[in-house]
Amino acid sequence: MIYLDHPATSWPKPPVVIQAIKDFLDAAGGNPGRSGHRLSIAAGRIVHETREALAGLFGVARADRVIFAHNATHALNMAIHTILQPGDTVLTTSVEHNSVMRPLRAAQARGVRLLIAPCDSTGAIDLDAFRKLAGQGVRLVVMTHASNVIGRIMPISHLCQIAQASGALTLVDAAQTAGAMPVNARQTYADFIAFTGHKSLQGPPGTGGLVLCTDRAECEIYPFMQGGTGSRSQSEEHPDVLPDRLESGTPNGAGIAGLGAAVRWNRSSECDSQHERQAHLMEYLIGGLMNISGVEVFGPKAAVDRAPLVSFRVSNKYVSEVGHRLDEDYGILCRVGLHCAPAAHKTLGTFSEGAVRFGVGPFTSRDDVSRAIEAVSEIARDG
Ligand code: ALA
Repeated sequence: MIYLDHPATSWPKPPVVIQAIKDFLDAAGGNPGRSGHRLSIAAGRIVHETREALAGLFGVARADRVIFAHNATHALNMAIHTILQPGDTVLTTSVEHNSVMRPLRAAQARGVRLLIAPCDSTGAIDLDAFRKLAGQGVRLVVMTHASNVIGRIMPISHLCQIAQASGALTLVDAAQTAGAMPVNARQTYADFIAFTGHKSLQGPPGTGGLVLCTDRAECEIYPFMQGGTGSRSQSEEHPDVLPDRLESGTPNGAGIAGLGAAVRWNRSSECDSQHERQAHLMEYLIGGLMNISGVEVFGPKAAVDRAPLVSFRVSNKYVSEVGHRLDEDYGILCRVGLHCAPAAHKTLGTFSEGAVRFGVGPFTSRDDVSRAIEAVSEIARDG
């Protein structure tokens, strides 16, 4: 089996991640921050250590500005639904995933004005259009760091600086980039970064978060939900301190333990060399696919401009047929179709059928990629 569905979720996970989840359940399975006994304290320590590791990863000085969420979608919703009020204007791009588009369409139905900056058919954003739209009294800009379909890395720090110069808050969807490349609060100039644990960070599903990168972000977000936090239990009012202000209910302790191990693994030298190898594999994969007659590769041609994924189509073949043959005949697992991102596919010109998408991970080998290129080549050759 060759697993190339990393942009959907990474697999296999580093063994240290699986061990950390097991250790949490075996030896630290209390409710973090709730009770005073040893299992609760052990669990609380693991949650805190993961928060600190994430603060280090994203370059924020205060760990209490890392808010745990179920995934990037949850984190994006936390910010979008609490910041935007009827009468506000929000700006996004034409390559967003439904984790952005659906909450924005819901906000639009509540009376929020929605502006969409166009990207071309390679996923490159029209900077002039973005600048003009950002100047139209925008309260919040929400944009992907790299599309889950096109892979193109957006000029995020430039876009955030344009948005902030116009007085807008900025929310960056780092679902496809966190763990695959540096995503640093200061370098991106973002107010908020939404991330997921289960993709390139190599953590378990059900983990992710929202990073409050600036004082303004901390001031302008309010709780999406209220409930028990383990703190100030005498009060029926939700506490105002971070991270409790934005987290309530028992957290996913086992998942957070796995995420902590994943982040530490990500920051190790072993992972640095994996990233370099991954970049070479992407060059090889894109080059190999582009050389196949009848295959159209979407997005930027250079791997350096991409998150580690590439989408393509084979002429005269339905993407569902290509996906089925890759799985059944070659044992190659990938995702085909619209990838929950109809806007991105409309921008590419691949709506409504979609495309075939491959992604590489830290454990993908050169041989895996060679076999995938050969398989696509054989499928393209078959009439
Ligand atoms: N957002 C995930 C993907 O791109 C699930 O496949």
